[in-house]
Amino acid sequence: MPERKTFYITTPIYYPSDNLHIGHAYTTVAADALARFKRLTGCEVRFLTGSDEHGQKIERTARASRQTPLEYVDKIVAGFKRLWEALLISYDDFIRTTEERHKRVVQAIFSRLYEQGDIYKAVYEGWYCTPCETMWTQGRLEEGKCPDCGRPVEKVAEESYFFRMSKYADRLLQYIDEHPDFILPVSRRNEMISFIKSGLEDLCVSRTTFDWGIPVPFDPGHVIYVWVDALTNYISALGYGSEDDALFKKFWPADVHIVGKDIVRFHSVIWPIILMAAGIELPRQVMGHGWLLLESGKMSKSRGNVVDPLVLIDKYGPDAIRYYLLREMPLGVDVYYSEEALVERINQDLANDLGNLVSRTLGMVDKYFQGKILPPAESAEPDQELVELAEETPGAVEDLMDKREIAGALAAIWRLVGRANKYVDETAPWALSKDPEKRGRLQTVLYNLAECVRFIGVLISPFLPATPPRLWPQLGIADRPDLQTWDSLQWGRLPQNLATHRAEALFPRIDPEKALQK
Ligand code: ME8
Repeated sequence: MPERKTFYITTPIYYPSDNLHIGHAYTTVAADALARFKRLTGCEVRFLTGSDEHGQKIERTARASRQTPLEYVDKIVAGFKRLWEALLISYDDFIRTTEERHKRVVQAIFSRLYEQGDIYKAVYEGWYCTPCETMWTQGRLEEGKCPDCGRPVEKVAEESYFFRMSKYADRLLQYIDEHPDFILPVSRRNEMISFIKSGLEDLCVSRTTFDWGIPVPFDPGHVIYVWVDALTNYISALGYGSEDDALFKKFWPADVHIVGKDIVRFHSVIWPIILMAAGIELPRQVMGHGWLLLESGKMSKSRGNVVDPLVLIDKYGPDAIRYYLLREMPLGVDVYYSEEALVERINQDLANDLGNLVSRTLGMVDKYFQGKILPPAESAEPDQELVELAEETPGAVEDLMDKREIAGALAAIWRLVGRANKYVDETAPWALSKDPEKRGRLQTVLYNLAECVRFIGVLISPFLPATPPRLWPQLGIADRPDLQTWDSLQWGRLPQNLATHRAEALFPRIDPEKALQK
């Protein structure tokens, strides 16, 4: 057997300083859709997520609630896992930066860079932004505030370790140049190129003003800068440098790190330079998606405008939330979140387009053929167009997924849904049913629709994983996993004389007035 292609995909490891909101859910759902798609199309996938547990912010938050940092993060991280379960996130591993398997690797890399002279000790004077866990020089501040988030910074002067980033700048530029897909989308790539060209400063990679972190192994009064700690998760989770590094050998380099645009720079500048210095291959891609915005400004507890994904999942179900997030956010673009738009998507795309196609098809199979899908017997004009589109759609979806155009892939699937609904109107089965001579034609029309529904069931499975298991029994192929695979997407594989089982609507219509009552 030829070895299967591997695919390693990661999400950011989120800070457990607070519960996660709909923005974090977006990143993880996007990564999950890609992971599931790659599994469906035959890859051996490793999908990693986790939590970034060190740093001053978490230490302070925990203290304020009279807990140790670990007690505090344990509870929040349990909440992360509950959320991922509710959203049907199919991660293979969850890494916590407080785990031994992680700390060991961070310390080993830090020591190695120190020994080879890429990390050195010096006195540092600068400005620290605690919410961003980022150190700034005076010149980088904007109106005396953090240039990233605009919040106040604290003056620090301490002995620190520094990482010679500039030494690797030319090699990094060359790598970016030779790998046009390394940073997506192109707008972010251009931004990173100018950032590097504007000159990289040496990076301060240790702190002495707090303890909640991984100690510098040869100088334990210092803790390692959180970003060096955090980024290393992508290889520590694969067992890099340990006795059992089979996963590292198999899955590294990562195929894609999915991140929000706020942390593209860490992933496409600092992380590759750490890897270069440590003699490790660079990831193939960093994909920086856009921002989910609120009309009322940035989501924050103090503003009371945080959108809790668990509440939405409870109300609308995981597939509806996943669909909305994935469909609304084209690659790299910012989008305003609103529950009105979510309800509109559910009613239009899921209830009207997809739900109706399925219930009309099965309803007619029930009504005209007592719940049996009979063999096609007589073809006519609109069949070919429908069949051609069905046959083309898997390839089109695969191309779009390879370009990380998840919203585009869903749009392509919904073009097929729309074409099938139009086919119902064009062929008017209710009229055919009145003429006994048109029975052969009616059989063909319903077979074609049922086969289309099967195609759509397979195509949506990475995006809406809860839906196909409800669809297969209706189509009568629950016990035929061979008809639910990517490879089974060849027109005409749907068996003839299948007994269908019509069931309740996949996505009932939602009354916006009731749902949106505040
Ligand atoms: O940055 N819209 O963790 P974090 C879209 N621990 N995505 C959003 C979002 C929004 N409004 N808000 C957050 C960290 N995100 C570090 C990462 S990785 C080695 C270390 C998503 O908890 C988006 O993916 O602040 C963003 O990059 C990430 O959450 C930041 O999560």
